[in-house]
This record gives sequence, structure tokens and C-alpha cells, in this order.
Amino acid sequence: MPAFVERTPSAEVPRQVLRPHAEHAFAAELASLAGQDDRPRPARWRLSPWAVATYLLGGTLPDGTVITPKYVGPRRVVEVAVTTLATDRALLLLGVPGTAKTWVSEHLAAAVSGDSTLLVQGTAGTPEEAIRYGWNYARLLAHGPGRDALVPSPVMRAMTEGATVRVEELTRIPADVQDSLITLLSEKTLPIPELGEEVQAVRGFNLIATANDRDRGVNDLSSALRRRFNTVVLPLPESAEAEVDIVTRRVDQIGRSLDLPSAPDGTDEIRRVVTVFRELRDGLTSDGRTKVKSPSGPLSTAEAISVVTGGLALCAHFGDGVLRAGDLAAGVLGAVVRDPGTDRVVWQEYLETVVREREGWQDFYRACREVTA
Ligand SMILES: Nc1ncnc2c1ncn2[C@@H]1O[C@H](COP(=O)(O)OP(=O)(O)O)[C@@H](O)[C@H]1O
Ligand SMILES: [Mg+2]
Repeated sequence: MPAFVERTPSAEVPRQVLRPHAEHAFAAELASLAGQDDRPRPARWRLSPWAVATYLLGGTLPDGTVITPKYVGPRRVVEVAVTTLATDRALLLLGVPGTAKTWVSEHLAAAVSGDSTLLVQGTAGTPEEAIRYGWNYARLLAHGPGRDALVPSPVMRAMTEGATVRVEELTRIPADVQDSLITLLSEKTLPIPELGEEVQAVRGFNLIATANDRDRGVNDLSSALRRRFNTVVLPLPESAEAEVDIVTRRVDQIGRSLDLPSAPDGTDEIRRVVTVFRELRDGLTSDGRTKVKSPSGPLSTAEAISVVTGGLALCAHFGDGVLRAGDLAAGVLGAVVRDPGTDRVVWQEYLETVVREREGWQDFYRACREVTA
């Protein structure tokens, strides 16, 4: 069966989409950047590498236009990632879950090629056709093998268009399917033996893959494939303040897209969620005094974002519009306790030894006790 759907031409974006692609959501910023960018652009790039990095990290343009930061993290990480895309090596974004690998790859593709939709989602069932091409069987039967019966994969499209293609969760893809990327990335060509033809990549083509640190060992990259990539590791936020900043920004953006009223004084509650997640993740309280056990889940920034968004929805629809501990407790519990056996014990211990004793945290303690019992 043909596994691919025709893409929506970017000119016809439906207005009510729940989650617009990055190139649509930030079209104004991208246009301003393109307009004021006089640095050299690699072939078929919409922006110069400098402007792509500015798009990701944020900044103010000469005419005063403010570019919002999409990624909060080390500048160098972004610079290396962007530069890699201008070379003949592909980019591998590696990191623990929730470190913005998918997010960064979407924004990179949007800024470099103006299109973030050329995407292969890696799973244990990803077939080779998702990377090479498939066939439209009706046309194949009616007219025999030919270019019009061929269904190009997103990778093949990116090669012919000179664009950026994204492969999500590369290490979940079976090893033999992964291997079909090796020649493609080194020779920049995709043979079509059935037609005695090949598709040669046009300048501007490159590939961004993401892979999860925790999946290590699932389908490790072969060394031959790894050599085709430059690996960039996305770190966890270095400080609690940086993480609070990331969560606050994203929650604000998501809240606006869901028409949730903004909670003006949500920062204190956000700080508490981030503190809890960091302490459980690190196995140590923030004052460095008490060791705590870590639960099985990743407790990433991404999860803090969804817990706070959920809390905001609760307080908007069922509360008085002010974000309180009671709106967050159930979400925190759900994120921490993945394994009802061991995680619950870890959580209760943390609650009784750390949260209960902490000054100014009594409301949070009570709210958590209520949902945990
Ligand atoms: N350093 C960061 N800067 C900006 N956003 C971040 C950062 N870390 C996490 N996020 C947010 O976390 C969310 C999930 O990230 P995602 O890209 O799905 O993670 P991953 O693919 O690494 O598992 C995104 O909404 C992203 O905005
Ligand atoms: Mg991801």
C-alpha cells in the first residue's frame, strides 16, 4: 500500500489548524530575517547560517524586529548543528527524552528549507519504502513500472528538491532499514533498479535525525552509518532558572494556542514543579543535602511543560483562574508515578522527607497528599 499522503501545499494553510508547522507559526519572523539577512546563503537555503542560528536562539534585528528564542541552551550547540547542515555530513541530534530534539529539528528544517514537513517517523515497523520509495499499485498495474507509478519517500523528495528531511527516532528503525541510508548519505544518490534510473540529490539536500539516549542498544547505529553523521548532544537545562524559563515560555505559547487565560503569577508554581522534577531526576535535593531516589520515568522539561499546561487548564475551567498547587498535584503525580509499584514508594518517600519539611510548601504537600492517598 502506498504509505504516503500528498502534502498540503504551503500556500494553502488552513486557518484553524491545531498546531501549525513552525514555518507557518513563525512566518513573520522568518520573513523579517530573510529580508535583513545579507550574509551568504548556502545553495537553496532560505537564510544564512547566522540567521538560522538567530531564528533558533532569538535576538533583535537591525530594524528592531524581535526574534523569539525557540531553543534555550548553549549557543555553540546550535551553531554546530546549523553548520553541519551546510556540509556534506548529516546531523544527528542525540539526548535524553524531552531535550527538544524534535523541536530543534523542526525549527532547523523550517529556517533552512522553509519546510519542516518532510518527515519520516522511525518505529520498529518503519519499512524501507519510507526511506526510499514505494509504488502506487493501481498505476503500476495499469501502466507498468514508471515514474508516475512511483511514490517518493520524504527522503527522495528532499533529494530532488534540495531540501532538509527529518528522520525521527532513527535508532528505533530496524538495522537493515537504517542501512539503506548509508549509500544515500555517502553517494547522495538513490538508485531505482526497477526503472534503471537513479535520483541524485540536488544541492541543499541534507538530513536531520534524532535519537534517544535511552534507546541505546535498541538498534544501535552501525559504525558505517554513524560516520555519515555529525552528532550533536542536546543537554538538559543547566540550571533550575533556565528550566523555569523554558517551561514558562512554552506554557505561555501553548496556552495562547489553546485560548487559555494566562496565569499572571504562575512562576512560583512552575518553579516548584521544576524543582521537584530536577531533584527526583538528580537524586539529590537542590540544597545538596538530602539524597532521594529517582523514579523510572524521565521527568524531562517536556513533561514539566505538560504538567503545567494541564494545571492551567484546570484552574481556567474549574478554578478561579489562578494557578495553585491543587491544580498541579495530579499532573505531578502522573508524571512521577509511571510504575505503580516502585515509583509510588519513591514518591511517597520524597513527599514525606522533602516536601513536607520544606518551608512555604505546605499547600503543595497537602495537595499532593490528597491525590496520592
Ligand atoms: N532547551 C529547550 N529550549 C526550548 N524548549 C525546550 C527545551 N527543552 C525542552 N523544550 C520543550 O520541550 C518540548 C518537547 O521537546 P521534544 O522536542 O519533543 O523532545 P525530544 O524530541 O528531545 O524528546 C518542546 O515543546 C520544547 O519546546
Ligand atoms: Mg522527539
